[in-house]
Amino acid sequence: MEDESTKAIYGKGAEVYEEVMRKYWHVERKPLIEHLKLKSGMKVLNAVVGTGLDLPHFPSGVTVVGVDYTKEMLEEAKQKKCAARVELRRMDIREMDFPNEHFDAALSTFTLCVIPSPKKALQEILRVTKAGSVIVIFDYAKSRNPEIIKWQELIHNHAANMGFPRDVICWNSLMDYDDLIYNSGLPVEVMQDERFESENPFSNACKIILRKRE
Ligand SMILES: C[S@@+](CC[C@H](N)C(=O)[O-])C[C@H]1O[C@@H](n2cnc3c(N)ncnc32)[C@H](O)[C@@H]1O
Repeated sequence: MEDESTKAIYGKGAEVYEEVMRKYWHVERKPLIEHLKLKSGMKVLNAVVGTGLDLPHFPSGVTVVGVDYTKEMLEEAKQKKCAARVELRRMDIREMDFPNEHFDAALSTFTLCVIPSPKKALQEILRVTKAGSVIVIFDYAKSRNPEIIKWQELIHNHAANMGFPRDVICWNSLMDYDDLIYNSGLPVEVMQDERFESENPFSNACKIILRKRE
């Protein structure tokens, strides 16, 4: 996935994005945010924010900084009603304009499967979060079942021709979280790694809770 085509797809898909997510990839956002154990005064990174599906679920008293590089997605996010204080920033998650150790926590939903260099993105999330910060990830993920992986390979190569709404949404159906979390050498402690295996190759997902190592 090249960046320009990713931006063009999400730019075009911004208006229908939430309908697609509701239909295929609904997840309750509040319980994910509760894992962050946020306290009043904390600053949390929402990387990336998209149309802001996470935003209404952050508690009051915290500041949420939502980053995305697609203008149309950020326009949708601006409309969200939120209890938390929200700042939206247009930037590439792999090269964020924040100092080191700026945030107390981070949430990343359906993001690293979209980015061609997920290691660079997670490395950057780790750079801008403080040591000891909790990072919650919920994402589409490559299955651990070889039979399902065959279907995911098919999606990877042919989803556009299968009539799936890939012209308004795009992702890497072979996003390998085992490789990213366990083989990348990034300074993380895994607090929870829950996989949602499904016979439906569109529905494989993971919830991973990390702590940035001191
Ligand atoms: C599937 S959406 C996820 C949005 C949101 N977190 C959610 O759960 O609905 C993926 C988003 O990633 C953004 N994106 C992709 N690559 C990016 C990058 N390198 N930097 C910033 N945003 C990026 C796209 O613009 C799109 O809004």
